[in-house]
Amino acid sequence: MVNTLAIIGAQWGDEGKGKMTDLLSQDADLIVRFQGGNNAGHTIKFNGKTFALHLVPSGIFKDTSSNLLASGMVIDPEALYQELKMLETMHIDTEARLWIASRAHVVLDFHKTLDALYEDIRSEKIGTTHKGIGPAYTDKAARLGLKMATFVSKTGFKTYLDKHLPFVNKLLESYHYAPVKQADLIKKMAPYQAAFKTMIVDGSKLIDTAIEMGQNVVFEGAQGTMLCLDHGTYPFVTSSSPSAAAIPLNTGIAPKKIRRVLGILKVYTTRVGGGAFPTEIHDDTAEFIRTKGHEFGTTTGRARRIGWLDIVQLRHAVRLNGFDAFALMLFDVLVGVDTLKLCTAYKLDGKTIDIIPADHETLSRCEPVYETLEGFDDDLDKVDSYKALSNPAKTYIKRIETLTNVPVAYISTGPDRTAIIKRDEIIAKTLKE
Ligand code: IMP
Repeated sequence: MVNTLAIIGAQWGDEGKGKMTDLLSQDADLIVRFQGGNNAGHTIKFNGKTFALHLVPSGIFKDTSSNLLASGMVIDPEALYQELKMLETMHIDTEARLWIASRAHVVLDFHKTLDALYEDIRSEKIGTTHKGIGPAYTDKAARLGLKMATFVSKTGFKTYLDKHLPFVNKLLESYHYAPVKQADLIKKMAPYQAAFKTMIVDGSKLIDTAIEMGQNVVFEGAQGTMLCLDHGTYPFVTSSSPSAAAIPLNTGIAPKKIRRVLGILKVYTTRVGGGAFPTEIHDDTAEFIRTKGHEFGTTTGRARRIGWLDIVQLRHAVRLNGFDAFALMLFDVLVGVDTLKLCTAYKLDGKTIDIIPADHETLSRCEPVYETLEGFDDDLDKVDSYKALSNPAKTYIKRIETLTNVPVAYISTGPDRTAIIKRDEIIAKTLKE
């Protein structure tokens, strides 16, 4: 029996990881978010209600689970506090169930100011979420960051501000922004420090102990592999790595302890913000998918860009993450699309290639090579097994499996927690053994 499972976005984020984490958390004891911050938005639907989480792991809805915001995250105290209040109004008890790694970093208001400022002054816009993620990770890498352990210590926080604010204020003033007033910031943060103090733990020890005790641990990725700072479509990426490889470093557990990796992908592709997107489409099908799939950002409300499924991109993600199985999401959205396209290679300067060029300008010149498949028209409300799917629906799934060499274990047929086809044999073989 395998007791550690990573749930990773295989595309550019928004693949439906929240739903899968929520589902798989039903068997989990500890759910861990390991990178990013409240740039993420995980939507979960059950009992006819929709819930959006940005920082707290989606496992919080299972009332016997523990949940950890691990050391690789950057946490905006105000946003976390609001999320806790939201959970409180829903009568979700977080007491002794939600933990924050002492080494996680803090996003302060000036990081959000700088995020907006950098976007404004750079000639090539990334289209960030303006949540301060990039500047908070920049401070971490520049050794100017603030760890949670220091933040919740009154004297530690003040000492940090004494040292760091003059530097920040010089930067802000040079761009004609008002300087940060230390007393105001301390006053604003005081209730958050008090609220989080008892939640701070050594994240590495918490996870390792759970694993050693034989508990089931789920690692919940945010964003998607193509937004990875190292292996994504740089510079149009986020400032952390949403890949499985990032988990050990971002949680403090040994690489060999990650036993299985589930890749989450939509049966088409979306991305938000700028950057190359070889299979992007702008026609009626794009509009149909955007409307039917509610393809608007959970965090920013922006309309998502739409494209066909890109096998070149998926193979890149398979190589990086070593997926044991896939969960295909939003399968119902494609019902009614007459003809489906799968991009199996790129054409670049007259040559056929099957890798993602590292240089962004080169990637933008890649033209997709498509294979065409018949669409499907299944009434998915009535389908509860793989066997009951129509032949064209099965062919589409099989083709994805053949081209990526990864078996499909789950097929999501609607937004609700219960709308899912589980292929028990594949789940047993790839994720449980
Ligand atoms: P940042 O993470 O706010 O710095 O934004 C960098 C890029 O990542 C932008 O293109 C964002 O739209 C994208 N991004 C960040 N978080 C998410 C997410 O959760 N889903 C999809 N795209 C995201």
